[in-house]
Amino acid sequence: MGLVRRFVEHGCARPRGSHPMASGSANTAAAAGSSSSVPQAIATPLTRAAIFLVSTINPGAENLAAVRSFCAGLAKLVRAVDFRDLEGGLSCVMGIGSDAWDQLFGATRPANLHPFKEINAGARHAVSTPGDLLFHIRSRRMDLCFELATQIMESLGGAVSAADEVQGFRYFDDRDLLGFVDGTENPRGEAAVDAVLIGAEDAAFAGGSYVIVQKYLHSLDAWNALPTEAQERIIGRTKLSNVELADSVKPTSAHNALTTIVEDGIEIKILRENMPFGRPGYGEFGTYFIGYSRSPRTIEQMLENMFIGRPPGNYDRLLDFSRAVTGNLFFVPTATFLEDAAGSLPAAAAPSTSPAESSSSCASDGSLGIGSLKGETPNE
Ligand code: HEM
Repeated sequence: MGLVRRFVEHGCARPRGSHPMASGSANTAAAAGSSSSVPQAIATPLTRAAIFLVSTINPGAENLAAVRSFCAGLAKLVRAVDFRDLEGGLSCVMGIGSDAWDQLFGATRPANLHPFKEINAGARHAVSTPGDLLFHIRSRRMDLCFELATQIMESLGGAVSAADEVQGFRYFDDRDLLGFVDGTENPRGEAAVDAVLIGAEDAAFAGGSYVIVQKYLHSLDAWNALPTEAQERIIGRTKLSNVELADSVKPTSAHNALTTIVEDGIEIKILRENMPFGRPGYGEFGTYFIGYSRSPRTIEQMLENMFIGRPPGNYDRLLDFSRAVTGNLFFVPTATFLEDAAGSLPAAAAPSTSPAESSSSCASDGSLGIGSLKGETPNE
């Protein structure tokens, strides 16, 4: 519970100069999941700007070693950029995909980590796309996000290739580009912590979380051709005043109906940090969906309800106007785990790691080498 308390106290209103990767001080080295592990800063206040950076790790043991070394130094890198404007509220959450996890950290893995599950239902397709690492960078200032993204890519150098990058912005009163306020029903405070942080159900990874991302592109002309009342019935809320529709008028296919998950009489919440993005010059208008949850099953169930329908066929009409063009699931280890990453080598070679790779994958110095990884083969 101490871990949860720290998260609530510091995660939502980070004190000046504190650890920008984490919800509290992450200086104490501890094994993943121990009571002294510090979560990453998942539930930060809404920001004006965000960058969502997804990359793949290039083949080769030296690249795996470079990523492990990078993990250990990420907090320092965030601090370096954050300190340039402490009012900017810079934060960064790093996620690791299922295959990458095996290669980076071996057999000891989070209980529910697996590749993103594709869904095909009629014209609706929740695609699964490549992605080993996620960086969810947030700040009040886009230049801070941009600087950190630049530094991250520079530090990782040839170890990774970019798979997708989206710059998101806050749009009027937290509206998406469809014109609706997005994020209202997010849990807050301790409820948010409860929704996202793994607890005793996977004690070795307590304080970690799961995150699913999907980049959606909207057919805005078609959407805007709908009468406002029809749009409201699709979302399940009024457009201008953001009030939830009464059950008597809200269709069972409404977005907020299909994404409400109740188990044993209790609603299971997730934490969404969606951001609009786009390029008007190219007719591109989108929503970057990002949902954190202590079990990926919750978000997977929401996706099934949206794409297949609850019951099947009663799908989310939002998908008649929105197309998912990416899809990934990542595990978000604690900040403490990341800091210890250079030393936390696979206990046994992961199945997909060749013996040659595994024997050379031991980081010998545990150093960060920020700015020094690019174009270098780490000396192992
Ligand atoms: C095209 C992409 C999406 C858009 C534009 C969108 C927009 C919205 C809007 C406007 C709301 C109502 C206000 C609110 O409570 O936030 C909402 C609610 C919600 N959405 Fe989405 N959403 C999208 C995708 C998703 C996806 C992929 C999921 C989960 C898999 C999801 C889960 C939820 C949940 C859980 C709620 C709150 C439901 C409630 O408790 O009332 N959304 N979304």
